[in-house]
Amino acid sequence: MMKEREPVSGFSGLSKEEKIALAGKLSSNPEHFARELTRYWHQDPEVQALLDEFSENTVSNFILPFGLAPNFLINGNSYIIPMVIEESSVVAAASRAAKFWFSRGGFRTTVPSVLKPGHVYFKWKASPKLLIEHEREIGNYLLENSRHLTENMENRGGGIRSINIRDMRPEMPDHYKLEAVFDTADSMGANFINACLENFAALLPEFFRVKGILIDEHDLEITMSILSNYTPGCLVTCRVECPVQDFAGMGSGIDALSFAEKFREAVEIATHDASRAVTHNKGIFNGVDAVVMATGNDYRAVEAGGHAFAAAGGRYSALTNIDLSGGMFNYELRMPMAIGTVGGLTGSHPLARLSMDLLGFPDAKQLMQIAASAGLANNFAAIWSLITSGIQRGHMKMHLANILGALGASQEEKDAATDHFRDKTVSYRAVQGFLEDLRRKV
Ligand code: MEV
Repeated sequence: MMKEREPVSGFSGLSKEEKIALAGKLSSNPEHFARELTRYWHQDPEVQALLDEFSENTVSNFILPFGLAPNFLINGNSYIIPMVIEESSVVAAASRAAKFWFSRGGFRTTVPSVLKPGHVYFKWKASPKLLIEHEREIGNYLLENSRHLTENMENRGGGIRSINIRDMRPEMPDHYKLEAVFDTADSMGANFINACLENFAALLPEFFRVKGILIDEHDLEITMSILSNYTPGCLVTCRVECPVQDFAGMGSGIDALSFAEKFREAVEIATHDASRAVTHNKGIFNGVDAVVMATGNDYRAVEAGGHAFAAAGGRYSALTNIDLSGGMFNYELRMPMAIGTVGGLTGSHPLARLSMDLLGFPDAKQLMQIAASAGLANNFAAIWSLITSGIQRGHMKMHLANILGALGASQEEKDAATDHFRDKTVSYRAVQGFLEDLRRKV
């Protein structure tokens, strides 16, 4: 914490070392602070320079595990899915579920549409009729005068699909929004959408001037222009299906039908109880975000849009639906996902590029389907554990492995600890104590 009340000025102009030295004064051990941050610099200066450019005031790299989840069968194609995530058990759970579904047709996915909205918010004090009367003409004018921005995107199969004016006066006097709907082809498209919207904002007053429609200069006031991360028109669905009988042996003491019934109850609880729905959906995002991260996409956008979609019915609910009719288990995830495979970090981050390579350079729709499959896999695995052994057993196994790794345990020590903690609660202290005892004895 800083005691000075003066803001630090010129921080961004300092060298990396100077920034570290200045910030280090706030740490408990400035030398350790500097040593550790420098230790994680990339050994290849070119790679480091590239990484530095992704953000601002970068002084080091924050490393996360890059894991691989094999055995994903998606629409008949098999994948090893790259997952970047710091939480233990997630990659193991995704792989476990993927393997279960591999021999049962795998994940069947669709992308019904990939449309993304953006808005120019403005105040209009002249006659509402005047505005609404010219809605179509305004749309055409904006489109015609944005060709320099849209030409490339149109060549790639995308573009602007519609422009409408929405009345916001019931909520805010004099307020309207111009809503444009975009298809951004294989890019996430944030820059394209925002550039178009800012151009529209400049063109809107021009339209009235050029067309000779007299309005007072204060009648039209632009508030802001920005894309929306609420993208229910950019949707992916992912489904798994098998006979209920296939659930024989899913847990000790639970038969196939009871497993399916319990699974249905767990999903129904998440459908009706927002408290559970949030955790249920969090488990889906464990898989989705890990793929979104591994491919250099914007997980905050995907999260924000997904959670808003989960609450679209007026109450926060599960993103999955279940059907057990006819002796079949049918389980589906439906969620919006605005991600891309060209532009942004996807092509420029060296590991994101590798992820794309591993996935066979998918287009945006295919990547949405892969990420959704990881999401459904993680959710399936979570419920599988929750309704049988509980979540802690698997977690604790991973937790124990992490602690043993952090404590520098040898393979022999790891084996002894795994045996010892089979029926005991795992904590850092307990594992540390066990290792100390073991080493003393040896
Ligand atoms: C933990 O990261 C995710 C779970 O809590 C998801 C769930 O409860 O469904 C296991």
